[in-house]
Amino acid sequence: MPPTAPAEQGQLPATTYDELKRRAWAGRAEAYAETFGLLCALPIERLLDAALVAHGTNLLDAGTGTGAVAAAALGRGAHVTAVDPDPDMRRLARRSAPGAQVLDGALPELDLPDGAFDAVVANFVLNHVGDPLAGAQELARVARPGARVAVTVWPRPATELHRLWDDVVEHAGVAPVPAPPLAPASEFGRSPDGLGRLLTAAGLTNVQAATVRFVLRVDAEVWWSGPARGVASIGGIVEAQPPDVVARMKAHYDRLSRRYLAADGLLHLPTAVVLAHGQVR
Ligand SMILES: C[S@@+](CC[C@H](N)C(=O)[O-])C[C@H]1O[C@@H](n2cnc3c(N)ncnc32)[C@H](O)[C@@H]1O
Repeated sequence: MPPTAPAEQGQLPATTYDELKRRAWAGRAEAYAETFGLLCALPIERLLDAALVAHGTNLLDAGTGTGAVAAAALGRGAHVTAVDPDPDMRRLARRSAPGAQVLDGALPELDLPDGAFDAVVANFVLNHVGDPLAGAQELARVARPGARVAVTVWPRPATELHRLWDDVVEHAGVAPVPAPPLAPASEFGRSPDGLGRLLTAAGLTNVQAATVRFVLRVDAEVWWSGPARGVASIGGIVEAQPPDVVARMKAHYDRLSRRYLAADGLLHLPTAVVLAHGQVR
């Protein structure tokens, strides 16, 4: 018998989506921390501000990854619980946020009591959950009445930073590897309106959402080393190629990324984040 409920025709069941996403993270914690973790760190202070995290706040960081949000919250004097399903991510989170309680856990079912937290955050996590609405509802469940829940996702259409990878794929003539499909009924708009609606549907009130722009300043070789080690969707594409095609992709990357090279010797890659927060009733 299949372990999951049958999918609607032509779609993967949500649990398969979750499984594929989790497999994509497995064994990549170090590479993530050194590359795409730099990108995901850009909105951390804005996210903690949105969740009103301050000295003494009892915070949950869901999908903590290597613990960058947890560490920043500890720096504000918060008490931090952090959960992530990936054991390597948890190991690194314990290292970078030694004062946090780091637990195994995956949305949309956390083994945590109702109303336990003064604030709940999830930085680039709802986009990895097969049922994002159930994930958002779970974030709201573990927050006390009046608490803020704050989340981020990447916007669509893709930002310039993300489009650089699309251009590399296209110029190298590589067939894009489709991302695991989210069931259409589970989709939400990757925009302030879409993410705001998701939080409202999850039962939160006073929902606010915005696009926040950043520039990632990163060494070109470091940035390539993320996909080269299988990190993110582009990493899945790079890993699926034979060595000669990877070399071709790298040559196109070197050429196409040059336009972002600044006087400090780093790439300055424009990007943006959708940040939303709401309040538990
Ligand atoms: C893009 S990383 C973000 C990590 C971290 N929040 C940060 O800001 O660096 C996504 C993280 O979500 C975790 N993750 C994947 N599926 C999850 C789920 N269903 N529930 C919670 N976390 C999940 C992954 O293991 C990974 O650590």
